[in-house]
Amino acid sequence: MVDSWVNSAERIGADLHLELAGPGGRRAALIGALREAVRSGRLAPGTRLPPYRSLAADLGVARNTVADAYAELVAEGWLTARQGSGTRVADRAQPLRRTERTPGRTPLRARGPRHDLRQGTPDASAFPRAAWLASYRRALQQAPNEVFGPGDPAGRRELREALAEYLARARGVRTEPERIVVCSGFAHGLRLLFGPAGGGVLRGPLAVEAYGLDFHRELLTAAGVRTVPLPLDADGARVERLVRERAVLLTPAHQFPTGGPLHASRRAAVIDWARARGGVIVEDDYDGEFRYDRKPVGALQGLDPERVIYIGSVSKSLSPALRLGWMVLPERYLDGVLAAKGEREAWASVLDQLSLADLIASGAYDRHVRRMRQRYRGRRDRLVEALTAQAPHVEVTGVAAGLHAVLRLPPGTERAALKAAVWQGVALDGLAAFRHPATDRATDMPTEDGLVVGYATPPEHAYAAALDALCQVLPPPDTRRGPASG
Ligand SMILES: Cc1ncc(COP(=O)(O)O)c(C=O)c1O
Repeated sequence: MVDSWVNSAERIGADLHLELAGPGGRRAALIGALREAVRSGRLAPGTRLPPYRSLAADLGVARNTVADAYAELVAEGWLTARQGSGTRVADRAQPLRRTERTPGRTPLRARGPRHDLRQGTPDASAFPRAAWLASYRRALQQAPNEVFGPGDPAGRRELREALAEYLARARGVRTEPERIVVCSGFAHGLRLLFGPAGGGVLRGPLAVEAYGLDFHRELLTAAGVRTVPLPLDADGARVERLVRERAVLLTPAHQFPTGGPLHASRRAAVIDWARARGGVIVEDDYDGEFRYDRKPVGALQGLDPERVIYIGSVSKSLSPALRLGWMVLPERYLDGVLAAKGEREAWASVLDQLSLADLIASGAYDRHVRRMRQRYRGRRDRLVEALTAQAPHVEVTGVAAGLHAVLRLPPGTERAALKAAVWQGVALDGLAAFRHPATDRATDMPTEDGLVVGYATPPEHAYAAALDALCQVLPPPDTRRGPASG
């Protein structure tokens, strides 16, 4: 067997890994290896193959062996040979079709929806590439060599210092860099807290809002944590219903997905509960920067840093693909979370951490957030205008903040609206998808019909068409109670 990395970079621009194995001699083995490389897509249509001589030298085979193999593959249609342009992979040679996996909640049709109004993702076209690049360059230039050694699981000091200043200033978080642990986002923070199979820093049962992100509930269930739904009303989670639980997960700045802030009296009440019962509040501050109509609602953590675990990330402000977040911890949980993270940083790239530190310290992060706030506010306004004009009977809620709104529908019409959305090529979710499955049994909270509309995702040029399509999906004004929605 000859196993070789053929370095013909000057001719084909890339290394070509070929394994000459199997029965039938080297010619057959080379034919088989080249065929496999084309079939799998490793050699793309149009790629120029190395000349006989250099491939023969690299593989340690006779020049004629390569010439014969090429001729055979030309005859089979895998390759083409043309005077002056050498031997190339034929244009029609089809690589193996890759399996498409589509992230997100709503399964996309083969060609995908025409309009993506799913909540969850910021406008990807607005990622601040130039500012990030400038920060990355500065970070790389200034980084001491020790940066490239094993990382501290708490995260880079530069980032924790920048975050401590930013979170205090922008979100009212009371902390110091020593209380911050860098993580790869909120989901990672939850995993660190609740650990595998109940072995984490916190234990269930965990009270959660009756409507919340199903992904987080599933993650908790997989970690062996039982979640108990807390009903919601116009003032947010009904925290007076906390009984036996010792931990509660809340989205106080902007209830996800229904959209209101936790009322001041409830904020005070849940802190009182934590103090009286030795409880802890896990605060998910997923989009606190994006508040439009009123003064920003500060973090609950500011009321009592010893009773609140505060978690945030760049997933809404920059991109969920960066996988960069932070936990601000009461002192008693620090060691446990660091132990759960492991001896070395295994999650957040040091250069991403340093780039974000620079982005924040240079003021570019604030400028980006301000710019995006304006853009999303404009989108929010256009959504409300479109609904006022085309579907005035549909109530829009949760519009004072964030990147999504909830359209309240008449009882029993949610499912039909979601079906209509599929027909219209609109991807969005219904409220039912976010309802805790035990809500009916555990609370007196009625089922609510509605659509959760993310207005950040479509590119600017496609937004107007997405709004038109959305309005087509909504039930007409005279819809009466239909079949019960799930
Ligand atoms: C309710 C909620 N919490 C937190 C997040 C952020 O999660 P992560 O930081 O893991 O990307 C999201 C999604 O963006 C969310 O919808």
